[in-house]
Amino acid sequence: NNHLIERPSEEHDALLATLPLQPSITPHFNPMLLYKGFWIPKFMLQGALAMEQRFKPRPTDIILVSFPKSGTTWLKAMIFATLTRTSYPLDQHPLHTHNPHQCVPFIEREFATGRSQIIEAIPSPRAMSSHLPFSILPKTIADSDCRIVYVWRDPKDVLVSLWHFTEKIMGGADKIPTFEQLYDSLCQGVNGFGPIWNHVLGYWEESKRRPEKIIFLKYENILQEPVKHAKQLAHFIGCPYSEAEESQGVVEQIVELCSFQKLKNSDGNKSGISFAVPDQDISYSYLFRKGEAGDWKNHLTREMAERLDTIIEEKIKGFGLKI
Ligand code: A3P
Repeated sequence: NNHLIERPSEEHDALLATLPLQPSITPHFNPMLLYKGFWIPKFMLQGALAMEQRFKPRPTDIILVSFPKSGTTWLKAMIFATLTRTSYPLDQHPLHTHNPHQCVPFIEREFATGRSQIIEAIPSPRAMSSHLPFSILPKTIADSDCRIVYVWRDPKDVLVSLWHFTEKIMGGADKIPTFEQLYDSLCQGVNGFGPIWNHVLGYWEESKRRPEKIIFLKYENILQEPVKHAKQLAHFIGCPYSEAEESQGVVEQIVELCSFQKLKNSDGNKSGISFAVPDQDISYSYLFRKGEAGDWKNHLTREMAERLDTIIEEKIKGFGLKI
């Protein structure tokens, strides 16, 4: 639909042309521009600038934010299933046939591709997502009653997940980065949406300032106690489970609907393609690999793990956050 295509702003193009540029070794983030201290894929930054001008938050909005490979797909499913649990019989829920990314769109991606109408057309309460650092999210979001759900994950497992994902999207090409190259780029903070420590810290600090508006969740903790976190999440996004629902086992059913095995084996996720970024078709199945904590032990030497931990610990020291 041509009438839906919005022209990129010339003013934004002029700004982007002044920013330091760096190729990304993960092709779906190539190229990256340094903006407000973060390496943002150019395409997503175009979306972020358009959002700054035109995104209109609603007080009931729910925005999931994550560093890529931290559990975005899972949390999209959890938020969407929680919000819509009474709209469908759970055995006919859209998550059986759709990828969570089809249910909860990335705001900056829709703005970057000229499809902001998709975001505007979602009925309230809207569930949307972003990978943008807090300092690059439009200020109107922080000034509104929007709720932000932030999920983070052990950076070592983020790295492992990103490496396998990169391998899949590059489909056996010669130029697949080595694990060591990807490791180095994460340690240096020069990778898509990095440095990872500043991404996490931005939301951590904001969650301490406004705990009623930003919830800060950790992938590993959700894996360990999914039911507890599902209840906490439902409460936070304004649709807590009733006593009747709890006694009927609805929380466990939602957790099951969003579980790794259920999502991985659903028809929509086995076959669906095109979770598109420019020139790259990403199959939905790539988003489900192992879904575990601690797979880094099979990929990093002890020295590599300790070095990365030390880098991150140094950076987050004094902020009251533990890896
Ligand atoms: P692994 O590669 O370690 O398995 P994102 O959605 O942010 O891209 O993150 C992808 C990671 O989340 C992958 O990690 C993927 O397997 C895992 N994942 C996807 N769905 C999940 C689920 N329902 N439960 C737990 N982990 C899930």
